[in-house]
Amino acid sequence: MAGLASAVKLASFLCIIFIAPWMASAALVQHNFTIGTQNVTRVCNTETIVTVNGQYPGPTITVDEGDNLIVEVQNDGPYNVTIHWHGVKQFGSPWADGPSYITQCPIAPGNKYTYNFTITGQEGTLWWHAHILYLRATVHGALVIKPGAGNDYPFSEPDDEIPIILGEWWNANVQDVILDAIATGAVPNDSDAYTINSQPGDFFPCSSNDTVRFLVEMGKTYLLRIVNAAMIHTSFFKIAQHNMTVVAMDAVYVKPYTTDVLLIAPGNTMDVLITTDQEVGLYYVGTRVYNSQPDGTQYLNTSATAILQYEGALNTSTPLLPDFPDYNDTDTAFNFSSSLRSLNSSVPQTVDVEMYITEGLGLITCPDNSCPENNGVRGVGSFNNISFVDPDIAILQAYYNDIDGVFTRDFPDNPPVEFNYTEADIPLSFWAPDTGTRVKVLEFNSTVQVVFQNTGIITFESHPIHLHGHDFYLVGQGFGNYNNETDPANFNLVDPQMLNTLGVPTGGWAAIRFVANNPGVWLVHCHFESHSSLGFDMVFLTYNGPEDADIVPPPPSDLPQC
Ligand code: C2O
Repeated sequence: MAGLASAVKLASFLCIIFIAPWMASAALVQHNFTIGTQNVTRVCNTETIVTVNGQYPGPTITVDEGDNLIVEVQNDGPYNVTIHWHGVKQFGSPWADGPSYITQCPIAPGNKYTYNFTITGQEGTLWWHAHILYLRATVHGALVIKPGAGNDYPFSEPDDEIPIILGEWWNANVQDVILDAIATGAVPNDSDAYTINSQPGDFFPCSSNDTVRFLVEMGKTYLLRIVNAAMIHTSFFKIAQHNMTVVAMDAVYVKPYTTDVLLIAPGNTMDVLITTDQEVGLYYVGTRVYNSQPDGTQYLNTSATAILQYEGALNTSTPLLPDFPDYNDTDTAFNFSSSLRSLNSSVPQTVDVEMYITEGLGLITCPDNSCPENNGVRGVGSFNNISFVDPDIAILQAYYNDIDGVFTRDFPDNPPVEFNYTEADIPLSFWAPDTGTRVKVLEFNSTVQVVFQNTGIITFESHPIHLHGHDFYLVGQGFGNYNNETDPANFNLVDPQMLNTLGVPTGGWAAIRFVANNPGVWLVHCHFESHSSLGFDMVFLTYNGPEDADIVPPPPSDLPQC
């Protein structure tokens, strides 16, 4: 039976290849990624880090919309690895998505795997990163998607482009940071520096000689392609004396929005135009980490900086610093993230599946008293009170091959108990989630509405929730508990922003809509990596549709096995 089913699937797959002559116009773009290690020094400290092709950040990949991208990943490093193409929808290529134990088993040291997919209907900036434990701290890079043949930007062509990747640096082996936290139950150590294109900049020790300089000419327009590859921290972003016009976010065009400050969460990407219309000089480009926890402390009180250097400016003059918002300025954060609008929109007006999903932190008792260092409990994340447990083989493999016992199809549409999710002192009896590998099944092409509700368990926090395999419309958001009688009346069903990662307001909620038009297994998780590593994950399983193109294809022959 299974054999026959695979034969039919294989036949349909071949058929797709033969009936797609339109693909002939798109180019084939090939890259080789060799994962290895090298010693890198930052903030007076040398660490052995994992890199791709010896680069940190990793190579920028540039394609045109419609191109077929093939990346052969050879793992010559010491750890299991996978690569995720963050924001790429992966229509018809679910095996290339990359999250470990969700769509594939990891690539073991010494092995390789080839990611092969076509980028259709997306333009702007996305990125790629390792998707296992903390490796993405150093294994990441930008993915630039230019308009395809015959298409232009929906804004005037910039004179040049500037890639900007925000990151974090640890004076430690990052895999040890997360593995120690998992072993002891403690919160993982925070990073030791924030970075722009891997350099901390002038305000961190031993760093000023290597501060990144963006050389620009007076009177030109530059397209900044900003990626937040940070592990834990959402940031404000500013450039002294310069306004910025956001034209795309998460590789979806927005109506141009001019501002002097951006808010960018881990996972998000932004395309931003600047005009060099100030006096010849040096201007700092910098970040300030936003802590969304009420009464939360400031993390490092230091900005990562680079320098925007006008041609003709003296190298040695002192750059102007931007005036940053306070580290806990939730008003500015919310104002920015509720101001963007889609340039083109086709938001579903009705929904088939409605889910209300609580998201936040919790505490579970370590089995067999395995974390005495942390009073016998560990912090976890959960959706609808279920903290996700990674299976031993990838869920997509288990689904495709009908292997039982790997996951269950019973993720709930609502929290198990109703309580006041956003009161200040939530009773301790609500703090311990269940654990499990439960997935939510979606019928092909169903229209889904999810309201994510932040809870105050342990603390309120703006968690960046990332959906694989789709973009979604952000139709509404607010503070406090979502009210399903009154809040829908205020939904934007005309031109809401489309995203792949959403910072749900701290102590609040956000409503999204998407169409489940992509058969496969799609992870949803908090893009704070420590939270995801601690169970802040859930999974959608979208069933096949009626057409050959809507059926999960057979796995590539080199798919890694667990
Ligand atoms: Cu950028 Cu599942 O992640």
